Amino acid sequence: MLTWGIIGTGDISERLVADLMTLPDARVSAVWGRSAARADHFARTHGIPVATESLDALLARDDVRVVYIATPAHTHADIAIEALAAGKHVLIEKPIAGSAPEAERIFAAARAARRFAMEAMWMRFNPLHVDLLDRIGAGLLGEVSSVRASFGTPFHPRGRVRKPADAGSALRDRGIYAVTLSSWFLGEPMRIAASGVFDGDVDTSGHTTLESGSGFAHLSWSGTEFLDLSASVAGARGWVTIAPMFWAGTRANVHAGSAEAIFGSPEVIEHPRLGNGYRPMLTAVADAIQSGLLEHPWHTHADTLAVSRSMDQIISAMRSAQSVSPPRSVPNLY
Ligand SMILES: NC(=O)c1ccc[n+]([C@@H]2O[C@H](COP(=O)([O-])OP(=O)(O)OC[C@H]3O[C@@H](n4cnc5c(N)ncnc54)[C@H](OP(=O)(O)O)[C@@H]3O)[C@@H](O)[C@H]2O)c1
Repeated sequence: MLTWGIIGTGDISERLVADLMTLPDARVSAVWGRSAARADHFARTHGIPVATESLDALLARDDVRVVYIATPAHTHADIAIEALAAGKHVLIEKPIAGSAPEAERIFAAARAARRFAMEAMWMRFNPLHVDLLDRIGAGLLGEVSSVRASFGTPFHPRGRVRKPADAGSALRDRGIYAVTLSSWFLGEPMRIAASGVFDGDVDTSGHTTLESGSGFAHLSWSGTEFLDLSASVAGARGWVTIAPMFWAGTRANVHAGSAEAIFGSPEVIEHPRLGNGYRPMLTAVADAIQSGLLEHPWHTHADTLAVSRSMDQIISAMRSAQSVSPPRSVPNLY
């Protein structure tokens, strides 16, 4: 039995805890929230025995072996390092931190404490992506030469992702999935071109071309407008499209292997979503911790750091492209 503590009572905690509760060998012992009222409400909703507004109290509990951290990204490093120092394993929401140097601090603390640490990149454990990685790794597309992905939906104008105080960033919140997908097939880029739109300090949309030794990724993201939510991966023998929402995909079309598949009807691969989509990752994390691993081989510290560095460089390229923010009307969907 693995015992969990939950840090943060927001949207994603709600959805992930619902999945965690369905695992046979997991128990959620306590939840921390900034406000006692919200922590109490969260605990009552999910049947968690203890709610607290004291982080120290949660981290002092013997019946919490691993903590799940789901607060805004700029708070992750300090909370994770405190949890690791208290002897807890950590699963930290994406993006793992506000920058690559902050991510390095977390992993250095995990190594020093000899505790498991991972960014909660659930896409890497999604059954469709696991299957595609296996098939493409076995040569389905030949050598991969391009990745295309986009993720754009309007953020709530007053939401966390639009707030400078919460280190809001459309790239780190949404574009991260596209950059991570590209890193699987093309590795860390050698050259980055990017431009985007800023609202003060907050990047609200952007696009980038990442050049690696074997090809290019063309990625775009937005928190102010809709973009196609699909992705594709192409190589010498054909291509695969991942249907929307590509980061949580359940269906892909394989245009490879025959003229019929390339020019006519593709092979369709489908994997149903399990729960809210977080169960495969939670099971993998639990197995890794129970086996004494300090990182998961499917989403290592090095994998996370490579994506964090790319995102830092994309932001820097977007800034030096001197993008400005002309007055824009944000569609009012709320
Ligand atoms: N994996 C996914 O599918 C997914 C989806 C969405 C988000 N995320 C990630 O999950 C994290 C949280 O996102 P969310 O959408 O759940 O956000 P959210 O709904 O705004 O919830 C954020 C939580 O953090 C708390 N918080 C806010 N500012 C804080 C601070 N300065 N110090 C400590 N706690 C603070 C909030 O407390 P109050 O209630 O008191 O404000 C709330 O409990 C982000 O890193 C985000 O990128 C992941």
